[in-house]
Amino acid sequence: MRLTVNGVEHELTLDPRTTLLDALREHLDLTGAKKGCDHGQCGACTVLLDGRRVNSCLVLLIAQAGAEVTTIEGLGTAAEPHPVQRAFLEHDGLQCGYCTPGQICSAVGVLDEAGRGWPSAVTTGDGEDLLSDAEIRERMSGNLCRCGAYPNIVPAIREAAGR
Ligand code: FES
Ligand code: FES
Repeated sequence: MRLTVNGVEHELTLDPRTTLLDALREHLDLTGAKKGCDHGQCGACTVLLDGRRVNSCLVLLIAQAGAEVTTIEGLGTAAEPHPVQRAFLEHDGLQCGYCTPGQICSAVGVLDEAGRGWPSAVTTGDGEDLLSDAEIRERMSGNLCRCGAYPNIVPAIREAAGR
């Protein structure tokens, strides 16, 4: 099957049970997305699939023929980081960094979803800021950080939204 990852098309012949996460890490050498739980519980494996954030450990590759995937490696470079990456650096939004690629890919998805006006579980519909701290916490609640970097992650995302 064919899959485009970070703008590069790949032709893959793999076991049909292969997950998108394993295809990225084990077969395409893109180890930015992390395997935290392999059960859809931690968000460390988050990537963008056709522009929407997904837990790649729960996605069967075989169902995604022709899809476009963006991983943390495709968001920015060391010289030119993505605005969310820059904000995480400036706000010290990480400690060990294991959850960080997933946090950043998820945050990119959050900014897009809020920009489209998509509500979250805490949105009341009263014209509130869809990127308030409460909204950011709710929208990022699928991404766990065992180092507890949340107090810096929230302002980083708020600042990236402003940019
Ligand atoms: Fe995919 Fe934890 S590794 S959600
Ligand atoms: Fe260590 Fe989040 S920075 S798990």
